[in-house]
Amino acid sequence: THAPLAEKDCSSITPPYAALLEKLAFVREVLDNRPLTLAEKILYSHLCNPAQSLSNGKKLVRGETYLQLSPERVAMQDASAQMALLQFMSAGLPRCAVPTSIHCDHLIQASQGAKDDLERSIESNKEVFDFLESAARKYGIEFWKPGSGIIHQIVLENYAAPGMLMLGTDSHTPNAGGLGMLAIGVGGADAVDAMTGTPWELKAPQVVGVHLTGKLTGWATPKDLILHLAGKLTVKGGTGRILEYFGPGVFNQSCTGLATVANMGAEVGATTSTFPYTPSMRAYLKATGRGPVARAADKALAEGFLAADEGAEYDEVIEINLSELEPTINGPFTPDLATPLSKFGQFVNEQGWKDELSASLIGSCTNSSYEDMTSVADLARQAKQAGLTAKVPFLCTPGSEQIRATMERDQVTNVLQDVGATVLANACGPCIGQWKRDDHKNEENAILTSFNRNFKSRNDGNRLTMNFLASPTIVTAMAFSGKLSFNPMTDSIPLPSGESFRFTPPLGQDLPASGFTAGETSYYPSPMPEPNPETQVVIKEDSQRLELLEPFPSHFERNERGLELPALTVLMRVRGKCTTDHISAAGPWLKYKGHLTNISENLLITAVNDEGGDVNVAFDPAHEPSQSESDTIPNVAKRFKSRSQPWALVVDENYGEGSAREHAALQPRFYGCAMILARSFARIHETNLKKQGVLPLWFLDKSDYSKIAAGDRLETFGLADLLSGVPDAQVRVRVTKGNGDVFEVATMHTMSPDQLMWLKTGSALNYIRSQMAS
Ligand code: F3S
Repeated sequence: THAPLAEKDCSSITPPYAALLEKLAFVREVLDNRPLTLAEKILYSHLCNPAQSLSNGKKLVRGETYLQLSPERVAMQDASAQMALLQFMSAGLPRCAVPTSIHCDHLIQASQGAKDDLERSIESNKEVFDFLESAARKYGIEFWKPGSGIIHQIVLENYAAPGMLMLGTDSHTPNAGGLGMLAIGVGGADAVDAMTGTPWELKAPQVVGVHLTGKLTGWATPKDLILHLAGKLTVKGGTGRILEYFGPGVFNQSCTGLATVANMGAEVGATTSTFPYTPSMRAYLKATGRGPVARAADKALAEGFLAADEGAEYDEVIEINLSELEPTINGPFTPDLATPLSKFGQFVNEQGWKDELSASLIGSCTNSSYEDMTSVADLARQAKQAGLTAKVPFLCTPGSEQIRATMERDQVTNVLQDVGATVLANACGPCIGQWKRDDHKNEENAILTSFNRNFKSRNDGNRLTMNFLASPTIVTAMAFSGKLSFNPMTDSIPLPSGESFRFTPPLGQDLPASGFTAGETSYYPSPMPEPNPETQVVIKEDSQRLELLEPFPSHFERNERGLELPALTVLMRVRGKCTTDHISAAGPWLKYKGHLTNISENLLITAVNDEGGDVNVAFDPAHEPSQSESDTIPNVAKRFKSRSQPWALVVDENYGEGSAREHAALQPRFYGCAMILARSFARIHETNLKKQGVLPLWFLDKSDYSKIAAGDRLETFGLADLLSGVPDAQVRVRVTKGNGDVFEVATMHTMSPDQLMWLKTGSALNYIRSQMAS
């Protein structure tokens, strides 16, 4: 049926505003009633125990203090949920401590179109979906079946609420910030903290205020705002910081538009992004059946929550006048290479690239709102009237079953299909490399997507595919021209009649006039299911997809220097950009997410070795004479493991940029990595390393990076002091070169006392287990 959504029972999804406000009042007093940012209000109102955190004059300093927090909810996608659940299961609890949901979206491969793709993917991933479903049943987790949609879209439609704090095992979890909350992307081990009721630790982020004035007009969309900001801030600019938007420009945007902006805060490395509660959020909550949440939020706003205080101080303020923004195209290969649309043709020409588009893709968790889809349908209608169809493959991924069904009811899907669009399943598909693409194999080519991420090989596994990120309307307009240099704001498309056609700026509707419709409800879970302890979570003994986890032993040993790491051998020095996609590739490897032994075969296979410049090449210093000295990185790591030789990596700037993929920490750990020395780390990945018992150290002097080479021996000094709580203890690393030269490098670290315990016991999970046992 196409019935509009009815108002839901919202008791389990409404934040406990009264309790949050009470905690906030306590913290305000301790902070002498100084004005607070919205991000601070949400964080401080979720402190586990404010009285303890702030006792004995303890301070709360942004960028310094570690906060112990109680998130209200956890969401996991099917790829990361496997490892998170395997870890949760080993804690031995009967149920999750907070409401938790699982979303089947990453494992669905795009090929023919929605129906076939879904059926084939359900069949080929049956074992994993059965595992997730049975674990959900056992522990009382809401299970969103394959076909229900993309995690972030479903969270926005069903769970997100102003002022809430939630964790998600996916880096674009901040998408829910579009509803004025803090939603933070984490690895599975962090999610397990919340699921086991263990305080979740976060260093109080700095808060960057983004002051928006003016109004988006014409072709400029919220996507262009974040693409522009990514160009300004770069992929590292948000590290350790929350982006908090404020000013009149926030209040004239749709809720789903704000979600797009929050979604891509992940691309600048921000902890998360948020906005004050707006009338558009209220309207979106009501349209999605959550009127009771809106009414409770209205009251909380009136009581001083859900917006920054007058005079709140930000660590930095960025000014953006929305009226001046023009559409922007970012890429290739990095989301912060921003080029205004008016200069893009020239940019393509200067680079010597072919002026040819090979595919246009819209949708994904970033841009699949009703407003996005009705805007692109407006362009498709104009093109159809002019007799045009898409010149290149034009793929559309609805973000959820609710969006798909509403699009279908409102004739949006028809219009897109009429001009040649293929509608894919409600899932991640090409956005996460699940794209069975038959053309342009190993050829340089350019695609335009409305997605959020564009690292090499991300979409179709081809390193030569250049992915440019743009708004869905720009991506759509370009599909009708087929040229990268086409500027729909100024250029026309020649028609066979000899006339030419120019688009008028697209118009979309932020909410459907007849309300959203749920579509196929058999995909949905029953709300707040009770755990069923009788359920057997089956993992076949010979499974190639799932493997129970063995706890990692601690690396530490007591030697003459005290409790320190053993002598480590450097496996390689990694050059330049090394994202979690480089460390643990997705695409075909997604099928091994629950099998650590199998997935570890992809360790760093697209990383560049700084000694020689080759991809996926490492050198084994202790090779057998019969073996060649160089080998693939996973093979060398495996040999180290078989010799019980613990090892270290030396890496460049922003190591682990990109996603919350904890496999990027688990895999090196599995092969025996004990320490990573970096010029700098991306936040989520650094935490994931700590969680799995790998010591992340930062070079104090970044030039030391190039002094250390593969095969060098590293010894730590000062960890023993750090572990025994000596204030300001420093960790030094003594390097012994192959020729016997010895020198020391100074390092920095970001370890809290609890994180040191994770390291000492071998992993955060070992520590949780030891705490539960005691
Ligand atoms: Fe899915 Fe992440 Fe893309 S959730 S749609 S893969 S950004």
